[in-house]
Amino acid sequence: MDFSGKTVAITGAASGIGLATAQAAASLGAQVVALDRDRGALETMREDYAGNDWPLTVVEVDIGSEASIRDAVEAIGASVASVDLLVNSAGIVSRGMFETTTAEEWQRVLSINLSGSFFCLQHMVPLLRAGTGRAAVNVASLAAKRVSYTGGVSYTAAKAGILGLTRHAAFELASDKIRVNAVCPGPVLTAMTQRAIPQEERQKVAAMVPLGDWLSPDDVAQAILFLGSPAARMITGTSLDIDGGLSLITGASFESYQRARQ
Ligand SMILES: NC(=O)c1ccc[n+]([C@@H]2O[C@H](COP(=O)([O-])OP(=O)(O)OC[C@H]3O[C@@H](n4cnc5c(N)ncnc54)[C@H](O)[C@@H]3O)[C@@H](O)[C@H]2O)c1
Repeated sequence: MDFSGKTVAITGAASGIGLATAQAAASLGAQVVALDRDRGALETMREDYAGNDWPLTVVEVDIGSEASIRDAVEAIGASVASVDLLVNSAGIVSRGMFETTTAEEWQRVLSINLSGSFFCLQHMVPLLRAGTGRAAVNVASLAAKRVSYTGGVSYTAAKAGILGLTRHAAFELASDKIRVNAVCPGPVLTAMTQRAIPQEERQKVAAMVPLGDWLSPDDVAQAILFLGSPAARMITGTSLDIDGGLSLITGASFESYQRARQ
């Protein structure tokens, strides 16, 4: 893949999957626009990129607020002429159980994980139209099609919503040749999962995955960049599972499946 001359805007770029996508895109020649609410982590990124001589624009944003997104997109428009690929990776996890999830928690997760992706894409359309790449990739989750392991009901509902958003946006924006796709990662070892899953539980998670391991953020980044590249020219409105085969199992771990055959 070659992203020379392309501008890639990434939300949640300061950590995890977003950070890995930013790094992979930059190493393939892209100018990266990093959006995040974590100012300190954006500063660290700025230093790293300067050290590598990679072009970088950083924009602080809270994607839980449409006004903040509007300001961020305006700031991006003042520093780049177009965006070729938007990656919506920013997200949070919540652990509330179904019966105890409060209205506040429900709204917070929906507003960041679902509405945030909607407004980022909606406000970014003019910059995407001005580019030649014309692609967006939303980071959903295996939870969009199953049930979240780390998150609560609001997380599962928001991620399922991302797939609807992806299909609908893909359909409407096809007339502008803007492609919109989603990725559905299984368990990825990032700050989000390190916070939610204690060290002693992590081996059990790896054991549930048929390919026997956690995903790395770069495993997801490579799939995102594929969907955002000309190699995926005729792919739109779909989702790609990146889960080491986790969605293939039917409740039993691979170990117990093997045991049942001995
Ligand atoms: N880690 C996993 O196992 C996993 C699996 C499936 C899907 N995902 C999804 O991948 C995406 C990235 O997750 P990650 O694991 O890299 O998490 P992470 O916590 O490492 O990174 C998330 C980034 O989003 C930023 N962010 C959070 N809320 C924000 C807001 N309101 N405005 C702007 N920035 C905000 C954070 O500052 C952080 O830099 C999320 O959408 C998550 O739901 C993660």
